Amino acid sequence: MAPRFLRRIAGYAPPGLRRAAAGALLDLQSLPARLADPARRAEPWAFIHNVGDGDFIAVGAQLLRNLRDHAGLKPSDRVLDIGCGNGRVAEQLAPFLSDGGGYVGFDISRSGIQACRRRFADAPHLRFEHLDVWNGEYNAAGKVAELDTVFPAADGSIDVAFATSVFTHMRMAGLRRYLAESARVLRPGGRLAFTAFALEPGRDRSEVFEFQPFEEASAVIDQRYPERAIGHRRDVLEAAVAQAGLKVVALLRGAWHPPAEYDGGQDLFVVVKP
Ligand SMILES: C[S@@+](CC[C@H](N)C(=O)[O-])C[C@H]1O[C@@H](n2cnc3c(N)ncnc32)[C@H](O)[C@@H]1O
Repeated sequence: MAPRFLRRIAGYAPPGLRRAAAGALLDLQSLPARLADPARRAEPWAFIHNVGDGDFIAVGAQLLRNLRDHAGLKPSDRVLDIGCGNGRVAEQLAPFLSDGGGYVGFDISRSGIQACRRRFADAPHLRFEHLDVWNGEYNAAGKVAELDTVFPAADGSIDVAFATSVFTHMRMAGLRRYLAESARVLRPGGRLAFTAFALEPGRDRSEVFEFQPFEEASAVIDQRYPERAIGHRRDVLEAAVAQAGLKVVALLRGAWHPPAEYDGGQDLFVVVKP
């Protein structure tokens, strides 16, 4: 994470430019490791689609571990990756889903999906879909409203859906739609794991995430570009989950506001479709 003054200056740039510049910096930082290790040379370039800092393989492995440990993900599961980015988790799932499992990942970033299709061309059990959905941070020219989004999966066809670091860029109204769509595509007993900043009294900002109130039940780090990072009140998130017909089975607090209750930066919700 960049120092505070750099984050402040960067806040004035439009999101696409800011993320591309930050991505180029990440690419420069990873260059020595890529040159030294041939296995790392094919990793996606962050200036093309920047999904945040951290090692592509190590972060993906951590996310898979969490899905296995906390959402009970199995090799035979049919999986939906909501906002799959440049395939960090897909990279891990390609060998993991070895027992008849299947995967569909979708994202609103065209370049992210193109990169995934190229990368996983030899993995027929992985499918990637681009949805041209609006998001102020990641696809400001998107033609489809979040409220009209239809996930690329049939009713009741998914065992485990997950959204890692995606709802942290969505306002509450869009998030409600995504919960409803998750409920539609999950089979009874299926699980949704999603990360969020679940704001509670005394746990509503940190040194890096200087959240300020936004809309009724949310908070953002940048009022000009709210989707840069958004937190939502924990009780409102839980009520939205219930309203979608889902049930919270676990909430594990992440390291963004220590102490962490699991090995992850954001808070992790695991919910089930009864
Ligand atoms: C921080 S990245 C995380 C990517 C991926 N989930 C991962 O963990 O590697 C956020 C991703 O969410 C995607 N995104 C943002 N809004 C979205 C939406 N409404 N629907 C689907 N994806 C969205 C972005 O394009 C971006 O790829």
